[in-house]
Amino acid sequence: MCVLVACTARAAETNGPMSSTKKPDAAAAAPATGTAAPADFDVEKLFANTCGWCHSGGGRVAGKGPQLMGTTLTDAEIVQRIMLGKPGAMPAFAGAFGGDQITAIIKYIRELKPEGTGK
Ligand code: HEC
Repeated sequence: MCVLVACTARAAETNGPMSSTKKPDAAAAAPATGTAAPADFDVEKLFANTCGWCHSGGGRVAGKGPQLMGTTLTDAEIVQRIMLGKPGAMPAFAGAFGGDQITAIIKYIRELKPEGTGK
């Protein structure tokens, strides 16, 4: 036989809401995005995407901007041009690239060869 008090207590237990067991959603914290890791930095792609629509042929021929292949500028002058741009002609990229990226871009420009002449 069932004692009234005990039966009531059991009923309350089984019918009780389970909401308090829900855990907070840890996955809601989004991972940081937007900063390209140096590992996936591809200077050729960067140049094509960022500079190529003005410096044509990967910098080999003149387009909206001059040919960069064979430039007579010094490294320092190239850095300055990339960082500061040229008002009304070329956008400034200060803040867009890190030092390693600038170095890679200069190396890329220095190593440009006319298309079709091999490596
Ligand atoms: C909106 C078009 C445009 C974009 C985009 C652009 N440039 Fe230029 N760039 C120019 C123009 C125009 C000049 C020539 C400016 C002048 O001296 O009158 C120039 C000049 C230069 C020079 C100097 C060349 C020389 O011999 O005088 C360098 C180096 C250069 N750009 C590199 C870059 C790099 C690297 C990028 C990408 C990060 C880039 N540019 C993106 C238009 C552009």
